[in-house]
Amino acid sequence: METIIKTIDSNDIDMDIIEEFGKMLREGKTVIFPTETVYGLGANALDEDAAAKIYTAKGRPSDNPLLVHVSDISEVDNLVENVDEKAKLLMEKFWPGPLTILFKKKSVIPDRTSGGLDTVAIRMPSDEVARRIIKAAAVPIAAPSANISGKPSPTKAEHIIEDMKGRVDAILIGGECNFGVESTIVDLSGDYPLVLRPGCVTLEMLREVLGKVEIDPSLMNKDDNIKAKAPGMKYKHYSPDAQVYIVSGDDSSRISKINELIDENSKKGLKTGVLCMSKNLDSYKAKTFDLGNNYEEAAHNLFDELIKLDKEGIDIAYAESFEEKGVGVAIMNRLKKSAGYRIIKA
Ligand code: TXA
Ligand code: MG
Repeated sequence: METIIKTIDSNDIDMDIIEEFGKMLREGKTVIFPTETVYGLGANALDEDAAAKIYTAKGRPSDNPLLVHVSDISEVDNLVENVDEKAKLLMEKFWPGPLTILFKKKSVIPDRTSGGLDTVAIRMPSDEVARRIIKAAAVPIAAPSANISGKPSPTKAEHIIEDMKGRVDAILIGGECNFGVESTIVDLSGDYPLVLRPGCVTLEMLREVLGKVEIDPSLMNKDDNIKAKAPGMKYKHYSPDAQVYIVSGDDSSRISKINELIDENSKKGLKTGVLCMSKNLDSYKAKTFDLGNNYEEAAHNLFDELIKLDKEGIDIAYAESFEEKGVGVAIMNRLKKSAGYRIIKA
């Protein structure tokens, strides 16, 4: 299919483009647009045929529900049965922003959008371009990350053009996505709130507002993963073609261990890459991939660096491990999935 591609300046938003892209969404077309987390592949969430096009474009399994985006809190009432106190607190504190909340859905949400579940996942993005497009569309927008199913989520224009040109009706290019990992997903239906996917709204931040909050235990190791409550979390995900391993341990033993492995690999004729923090860029005997100076930067850079592994023809990649605190929980969740839960202890 022919794909319309336009660029927008988020500091000087061209409302003609916003109207044009909003109209396409309203008419049932598929449109890729930037958000503060990752690029989304959007379609009208209330239109079954439009939602079906998303699954085709991504090659996504049809039992994996879509996340629904709104431009204003007031739209939620039309879509869900009930907004309880906890949900209200979260919306007040974290919307607009990278937090997705599960609700019991009203029947306006078609099964194609909710993957046959009786719940719907909703978020209100803080990205100004995203919110204006949703507002211009005047319908809620279903938008999963704009990657081919199984691959890292796109955070930069170049990721999208390569993979998605010809698979969607239109692509709107904005800047780089700020946070770089997908939104935190929280389920409020149990005895206490459960995080189904960790993100940049951290467990610590949620606990400050709600008290006890836990992470879905099935996310923490491979064997449990098939029981994950967010269906998307059970699939192979974030996987470059390179074989990724996480290496844990203190900085110096990790560096020596990885350098040993690099030597072994090069004897076998395998090309090694290392995903590491900026301070360690010169410590390795192989090509390094810069995750940045702190955890926020690492979250921002992670998918881009994973995508670069394949561009550089890397066979085996070692990733420095992160402490599972704050944004580190989200980074390690994505890394573990891209590494198929292979962790080497240094
Ligand atoms: O940051 C984000 O959330 C990005 C941007 C584009 O907004 N979107 C995104 O969508 O990551 P997606 O489809 O790639 O991931 C949504 C996740 C999937 O793992 C899906 O299984 C889960 O949310 N999900 C959606 N609806 C659900 C529901 N009703 N119950 C449980 N999990 C749900
Ligand atoms: Mg995704």
